[in-house]
Amino acid sequence: MFRQILVIGILWWAGAVTSQQCPSPCYCRPPGQVFCNGTGISEVPDNIPTDTRILYIGDNPIHEIKKDSLSKLINLTALDASGARLKEGSIEPGALDLPSLTDVDLSMTDYKTIPQTLPKNLDTFRMMQGNLQMLHSESFKLYPKIVYLDLSNNKISKIQPGTFDPLVSLTTLYIGFNQLSDESFPQNAFAKCQSILSIDFRFNQMQHPLQNLPTGIQHLCYVGNKIKTLSSYAFKSLTNLQTLAFWQGEVETIEDNAFYGLEKLTLLDFMQDHIRSTLTNQTFVGLSSVDTLYLDLNNISKIEVGALYPLRKMGSLWLQSNQLTSLQPGVLDTRYLTKLNTLFIDSNPWYCDCKLRWLRENVDNAPYVIQDPHLIVCQGPEKVAGKAWDELKPSDFVCPEE
Ligand SMILES: *[C@@H]1O[C@H](CO)[C@@H](O)[C@H](O)[C@H]1NC(C)=O
Ligand SMILES: *[C@@H]1O[C@H](CO)[C@@H](O)[C@H](O)[C@H]1NC(C)=O
Ligand SMILES: *[C@@H]1O[C@H](CO)[C@@H](O)[C@H](O)[C@H]1NC(C)=O
Ligand SMILES: *[C@@H]1O[C@H](CO)[C@@H](O)[C@H](O)[C@H]1NC(C)=O
Repeated sequence: MFRQILVIGILWWAGAVTSQQCPSPCYCRPPGQVFCNGTGISEVPDNIPTDTRILYIGDNPIHEIKKDSLSKLINLTALDASGARLKEGSIEPGALDLPSLTDVDLSMTDYKTIPQTLPKNLDTFRMMQGNLQMLHSESFKLYPKIVYLDLSNNKISKIQPGTFDPLVSLTTLYIGFNQLSDESFPQNAFAKCQSILSIDFRFNQMQHPLQNLPTGIQHLCYVGNKIKTLSSYAFKSLTNLQTLAFWQGEVETIEDNAFYGLEKLTLLDFMQDHIRSTLTNQTFVGLSSVDTLYLDLNNISKIEVGALYPLRKMGSLWLQSNQLTSLQPGVLDTRYLTKLNTLFIDSNPWYCDCKLRWLRENVDNAPYVIQDPHLIVCQGPEKVAGKAWDELKPSDFVCPEE
């Protein structure tokens, strides 16, 4: 009798242990991580340990997630199915209604729309490198708790009115590498997203910065878009913005007072645009906190005295690879630019006559460092043309009458 009970007991114990064993061919890493990704399986294993917290099933020819296949995983918080062969209808209703599941990755799947069978408590959702072409008014209606949303690298060209309205908790949106133009967005697309802190629109076809963004936003990225002109007062309500980036874009013109109101901005990046407007003493008004200003690889040929004075916290200024031939000493007046410590001016067609001697002197003496004198080369006058500043002395910078 006792022996029978013992045998039954051992069988029960063995069964319980078996159910917590790592399902073949997956790899398990305690506590709670199960890696079935890239193993060639075509179905979700049915004996995944019930204490699993993070489950990877992606990079597999899995075509569906059935209603019961994950239902025992009451502690599952994150499901990564990126690269599974999932599409509309692949996730059965209820399959992801798990009490702890908040983080889902469906990147590199075949969905054309946002699936409506995601968990109600979804707070992190990734659908990168997919086939999304349009975001519908209803796309996020069931998911008001999303905080982090990454829809990069799709083919999105249209966003219907109200699409983002349910996303009142959204702080971070990546929607770069899509086909968004100005016409893709409804009016006030983000008006209800009052928690938003960061939007990344990089490498789309937008021709203007988006209007009426929530005033709490801190980071805006328009890198690689088709914006040609920044109009006066374009950002004036974005008083909490900290970083603003336009690099590898098409910006040609910055109108006076374009950055008015951006008193908290610390980083402004125009690397590799086509800026050719004169920098006037109104260009940078409002940028009293900017620490780093990238203007390298542009077409700037004229900087007026006073243009940089509003940038009183600026530490580094990147002006290399522009069309500068000369600069007046007042441009870099350190009574205004008290924090300036690093200056890049190489790869400009400098005209090294007596009017520019002060700048060569500053290579030796200024309170800021002028970087890479061996790359700062004179284009003229003839006597010094082609010479780098490390092989010239200030006294080589002469005018004809001297
Ligand atoms: C599964 O995913 C993890 C996390 O992304 C990764 O480190 C691992 O290399 C992947 N395994 C396979 C077999 O692809
Ligand atoms: C789920 O997590 C709770 C809290 O950590 C734990 O007490 C419980 O045993 C876990 N359930 C399973 C099935 O692992
Ligand atoms: C600068 O302007 C010239 C003349 O308009 C143009 O040919 C060149 O491509 C421009 N370069 C940049 C970096 O915008
Ligand atoms: C800007 O420059 C112009 C012309 O040099 C000058 O008249 C004006 O007072 C300057 N404005 C400011 C705010 O410094």
